[in-house]
Amino acid sequence: MSNELIYNEFFLKNREAETGGGDSKIRLQHENGKMTARERIEVLLDKGTFVELDKFVVNRCGNYGMAENKIPGDGIVSGYGKIDGRQVFVYAYDFTVYGGTLSITNAAKIVKVQTLALKTGAPIIALNDSGGARIQEGVDSLSGYASIFYQNTMASGVIPQISAILGPCAGGACYSPALTDFIFMVKEKSHMFVTGPDVVKTVTHEMVDKEELGGAYTHGNKSGVAHFICNNEEETLLGIRELLSFLPSNNMEDPPVGVVTDDIRREEESLQTVIPADPNIPYDIKEIIEPVVDNRYFFEVMPDFAKNIVVGFARLGGRSVGIVANQPAVLAGVLDIDASDKASRFIRFCDCFNIPIVTFEDVPGFMPGSVQEHNGIIRHGAKIVYAYSEATVPKITLITRKAYGGAYIVMSSKQTGSDINLAYPTAEIAVMGAQGAVNILFRKADESVKQKEMENYTENFANPYKAAEAGYIDEIILPKQTRYKLIQALEMAQNKTQSNPPKKHGNIPL
Ligand code: HXC
Repeated sequence: MSNELIYNEFFLKNREAETGGGDSKIRLQHENGKMTARERIEVLLDKGTFVELDKFVVNRCGNYGMAENKIPGDGIVSGYGKIDGRQVFVYAYDFTVYGGTLSITNAAKIVKVQTLALKTGAPIIALNDSGGARIQEGVDSLSGYASIFYQNTMASGVIPQISAILGPCAGGACYSPALTDFIFMVKEKSHMFVTGPDVVKTVTHEMVDKEELGGAYTHGNKSGVAHFICNNEEETLLGIRELLSFLPSNNMEDPPVGVVTDDIRREEESLQTVIPADPNIPYDIKEIIEPVVDNRYFFEVMPDFAKNIVVGFARLGGRSVGIVANQPAVLAGVLDIDASDKASRFIRFCDCFNIPIVTFEDVPGFMPGSVQEHNGIIRHGAKIVYAYSEATVPKITLITRKAYGGAYIVMSSKQTGSDINLAYPTAEIAVMGAQGAVNILFRKADESVKQKEMENYTENFANPYKAAEAGYIDEIILPKQTRYKLIQALEMAQNKTQSNPPKKHGNIPL
C-alpha cells in the first residue's frame, strides 16, 4: 500500500472514531438540547489545544452482541489540553455511544488521564452524561467505577478536580463527582441520584420525578451537592474556565497572580454606612465584600445553598483569596448545620490549594433548637473550628458587627490560628448579646433595672475594645479602609510557613 493510501486510511479511521455513536445519535443529542462530548471539550479548552488519547480503544465485552458493535473510543473522549495557557486533563462521557455508560475499557481510559493528571500536577475536569454502569458488562463495569473513585481519592487535595453534570448521572456514577472538589449542574438537563424515580417508587412508594429528585435546583438549593447551577452548557464550560483562573494547578504551587488594575489603596466611602446603627437590622454582607475586592468581582460558590453563610473566590491585590462570610441578611447570619458544612469544606479546599482565607464575621451564634441539636449541630459545627484550626494558609478575619459566643470562637478567632484579626468600631464581641446576658445575670430584677443593666452591658461589652485590650483583635479599622488593610495583612502573611504536627491524617468530625 502506498503512503498516500495509508494516510487516507488514517484520515478515514480518525473521522469514524470522531463520530462516536453516529450521525443519528448525534442528531438526537442535539435535539435534546445537549452538545456532544467533543463539542463540549472544544468550548472548554483553549482553541486547538486538545490532544485526544485512546481514540481507537474499543470494548472487549462479548455479552449481548457487543462483540459485533465495537465503537472506537467506547463512549469516552479523553485527553489533555490547555485552559488560559495552563495544562489540564479532561474526559467526557459520550452519550451517543451506549448512553455514555461505563465499561471496564473506557474506565481504563479515565484512569489513564487521572493518573497522568496526578503525576504531572494538572487539574482534571470530568464532563458527565451517562446512563451509569453498562449493564452488559456486569461486575467489570463496577470494578471500573471503583478504580475511578480510588484515583479521585488519591488526587484529592493534590490537584483540583472539577465535575460537570451535563445529562444523567445515576447510581454509583454520582460518587466520582461527589469525590471531586466542585460540581457544576445545568438547569433542566442534569440529574443526579443514587436511585432513580422508579426504584424510589418501588422501595418507598414515594412518587417523585427526576427533576424534583435530583435536578439542578434540588442539588443547588436543598442537598448542597452542587456548587454551581448554570443556565446552559456553554455557561457551565466557561464557568469551569473561570473557576480554574483562581486556582493553582496543584498543591505545590501558588494560585496564579493577576495584573492589578484596581488601586490597592482605594478607600470606599460607601462602606461607612453599610452597617445599620441598630444591631438588629440586617444588611447584605456582599455590600461589604464586593466594594473591597479587586474590580468588585466576587465569584460566589454555592450561592443558593445555606445562604446564611457566603463563600467564594475573589482577588485582593491580584492574588486569589477564599472568602468566608456570615450573611446577616439571612437568618441573621446564624450558624446552622448546612452553613457549617458549606463553610468547612470550602475552608479545607482553600487550605489544600494554598489560597489565603479572608473571613468577614457578623454572627449572633449557633442556631438553637431541637431540630438542629437532633441533627448534630455539635458535630457539624465542630467542623468549622477544625477546618480553620488545621488550615495553615494565611488567615485574616474582619469582625464587622456581631461576634458572640461559640460562633466568635469558631469563625477564625485569634486562638484558632488566625494571623490578623481586624474589627470595625461597630463590632460587638462578647459571650452573648445584652438581652440574653441581663436575663441571666439579673433574672429576678424588675424591668427598669434590666433596662439600665442592658445599657451598661452594651456600653461595656458590645464593642471591640475589650477584645483589642486583650490583643485578640490586632487592629480596629474604619470600614472605608477595609480594602487596603486586608491587602496589607495578606502581603505581610504571604510567606507564612506553618505546619501541623506529623500525622497520617486528622479525624475531622464528619
Ligand atoms: C447499558 C444503557 C444503560 C445502561 C442506557 N443505556 N443506560 N446501556 N447500560 N446502564 C443505553 C440505552 O439502552 C440506549 O441504547 C442508550 O443508552 C440511550 O439511552 P435512552 O434510554 O434511549 O436515553 P434517554 O431516554 O435519554 O434516557 C437516559 C437514561 C436511561 C435516563 C440514562 O437510559 C436510564 O435510566 N438508564 C438506566 C440508568 C441506570 O439505572 N443505570 C445504572 C445505575 S446503577 P440504544 O442502543 O437504544 O441507543 C450503577 C451502578 C454503579 O450505575 C455502581 C458504582 C459504584
